[in-house]
Amino acid sequence: MSEFAQRGILIAVEGIDGAGKTTQVRMLVNALHDTGESVTASKEPTNGQWGSILRQSATTGRLPLEQELEAFINDRQEHVDGLILPALKSGGIVILDRYFYSTIAYQGARGANVKTVWAEMVKRFPLPDVVFLLDVDPIIGIHRIANDRGEKPNHFEDRANLSQARTIFEAMHEENIHHLNGALPIDAIHDQILEFFVDGPLKAKRCAKDYGCTDSYHCMFAQSNTCEWNNLRARIPHAHALSSY
Ligand code: TMP
Repeated sequence: MSEFAQRGILIAVEGIDGAGKTTQVRMLVNALHDTGESVTASKEPTNGQWGSILRQSATTGRLPLEQELEAFINDRQEHVDGLILPALKSGGIVILDRYFYSTIAYQGARGANVKTVWAEMVKRFPLPDVVFLLDVDPIIGIHRIANDRGEKPNHFEDRANLSQARTIFEAMHEENIHHLNGALPIDAIHDQILEFFVDGPLKAKRCAKDYGCTDSYHCMFAQSNTCEWNNLRARIPHAHALSSY
C-alpha cells in the first residue's frame, strides 16, 4: 500500500480534445469548495519547462515520437514530485485534467506500444483512485474546439489522430476507470462524476467503518455525526440526493 493510501485521493479526468475535461474538473472543484477538504486541481502538460516545449510543438509541429514521449514523461515526473505526491501525502484531493492515460492514448496513436507504455506509467507514477474517461466522437471534439473555444485545431487535434486516441481510450478497462458519455449535457455528466466520486473513493477514504458503509441511515457513526464521509457528503451540493446510501 502506498504512503498516501490512507487519505489522499487522486482523480484523473481524461478523454480526447474537446471531450469536456476542463469543464468537469472545474465543476468538481467547485462542488468540493465548501467541504473543508484541501483540493488541488492541476493539468498536464504542465506549464513547466517540458510542458512549455510540448505546448509550443502543438503549434509549430510535433516532436519525433521518442522525444515527445520522453518530454511528456519528464513533465509528469516533475509534476508528480513537485505537486501531486506532496498534496496526496498531506491527505488532500488532487484532480487532474489529463494524466498518464493521455500518454498511452496519444503516443499510442502515433505508434508507441500501448502495453509497454502502460506498464512503464504504472511503475513510475501513482495510480489514480478513479479515472473519469469522457468519450466523444472526434467530430464533436473538433467542433467544440472550433466553435466553443474559437480556436483553430492544433497539431495534436487532427481527426485521424483523435480517432486513434479515442479507440485506445475506449479499450481501457481497469477497476479504477469509469467511462462516461461526453456528449451528454454538462450537468448530467457532472452529476454522474459526483455520484461516483462520493460513493466510490470518497467513501473508501473517509468512511468511519473500515469495512465500508452499506447503510448510512442506520449507522451509529452517521447518527452521531462522527462519520467524516457522511458529514462531507452533507456539505457537497446535491451529493446527498445523488448518493445511493
Ligand atoms: P491540452 O490541450 O489538454 O492542454 O493538451 C495538449 C495536447 O497534449 C493534447 O492534444 C493531448 C496531448 N497529450 C499527449 O499527447 N500526451 C500526454 O501525455 C498528455 C498529457 C497530453
